[in-house]
Amino acid sequence: QTGTFTYDPGFTSTASCESGLTYIDGDEGVLLHRGYPIGQLAEQSSFMEVAYLLLNGELPGKDELDKFNNTITRHTMLHEQLATFYRGFRRDAHPMAVMCGVVGALSAFYHDSTDITDPKQRMIASHRLIAKMPTIAAMAYKYSVGQPFLYPDNSLSYTGNFLRMTFGVPAEEYVVNPVVEKALDRIFILHADHEQNASTSTVRLAGSSGANPFACIAAGIACLWGPAHGGANEAALNMLHEIGRPERIPEFIARAKDKNDPFRLMGFGHRVYKNYDPRATVMQKTVREVFKELNVSDPVFEVALQLEEMALKDDYFVEKKLFPNVDFYSGVILSAIGFPTTMFTALFALARTVGWVAQWNEMISDPEQKIGRPRQLYTGPVQRDYVPVDKR
Ligand code: SDX
Repeated sequence: QTGTFTYDPGFTSTASCESGLTYIDGDEGVLLHRGYPIGQLAEQSSFMEVAYLLLNGELPGKDELDKFNNTITRHTMLHEQLATFYRGFRRDAHPMAVMCGVVGALSAFYHDSTDITDPKQRMIASHRLIAKMPTIAAMAYKYSVGQPFLYPDNSLSYTGNFLRMTFGVPAEEYVVNPVVEKALDRIFILHADHEQNASTSTVRLAGSSGANPFACIAAGIACLWGPAHGGANEAALNMLHEIGRPERIPEFIARAKDKNDPFRLMGFGHRVYKNYDPRATVMQKTVREVFKELNVSDPVFEVALQLEEMALKDDYFVEKKLFPNVDFYSGVILSAIGFPTTMFTALFALARTVGWVAQWNEMISDPEQKIGRPRQLYTGPVQRDYVPVDKR
């Protein structure tokens, strides 16, 4: 269909909100951002173009994109005192713990963009969050490996800057590999937004109370960390390593089907997709490109491919419509690029910040929006009178 269309779920929708950013058809495996298919955006656009599209509703023209890139670039630095925040953490702190803390603290440093009633401040806060997440994530990695922080180099692209801040060292020049840069930029696009997933709903609910945008994004980071959500990419690669070789796949498929075993195939299944996650399709193709460019092979990729093939032939997975999701292959690529598994969800948070701030802006700029207040189905005792302790 072309033009505007209303989505009739065919049932009394329990929709939590109205939104025009992202459309998912879980049965058909369709994902659109402002009407554009994820496959086309992943193959033809850049993460900054998609960020502009989600924030503003239209793909930018050349001048608009240059201006947006320049604006984001100018916000990549962190207040110098925030660097001391990192030194309060143990070196082995999980990067997501660090990001929760540092992002939550941003409102203590950037007061001039916390007045949510001012559209100008809202946009400045949005640009600051998109711009600073790579710096914050890279610093979390550097701190964990005991290397010095690198300041942003604004002559590089958004993703190139992140790669250099993460893997560069002061002692020598860091040359961005364009194939790796493109692959990582594409991975960021695939993670940018995804309708009302758990972490985005968390950001919206927090934002509906009027909390400042930095606090709301910190809440989203906390929610994304869970293994059922963004933490699945780290868990999926750990699972593939635990399987180790194709001969062990049947054992793990049997465990995933065993109701008495809490084990689930990480990177498989989805609350909405009952078809192949279109992002997983692009992700698998990107693995092949990165492996070819880096001239690496990883037996884990072969395990992943065979696990997918065997699971998709298994009645249990077919009947329950369980397919690979965005997290199934992403870890294989991120590991090949050099990221430790502990950084995978931090990268997911980096990319999803674009969707979180776009969804937050959409909600907070709606004059009709009210504080979120989910109700419950009460299952506790009926009313009864108090009994003093000496009579209990
Ligand atoms: C993300 O919402 C989003 O959009 C999230 C996300 C985004 O971009 O924001 O797409 C990112 O979080 C992707 C999902 C990443 N999580 C994982 O890969 C973790 C492994 N997957 C599962 O834990 C699970 O599939 C969930 C949490 C994703 C969904 O769980 P549900 O809601 O229970 O799935 P379901 O209702 O479709 O399950 C149907 C059945 C259930 O069995 P029955 O109760 O019917 O007997 O399938 C079973 C589930 O137990 N099942 C699995 C399974 N996933 C579901 N069995 C084995 N392995 C699995 N992975």
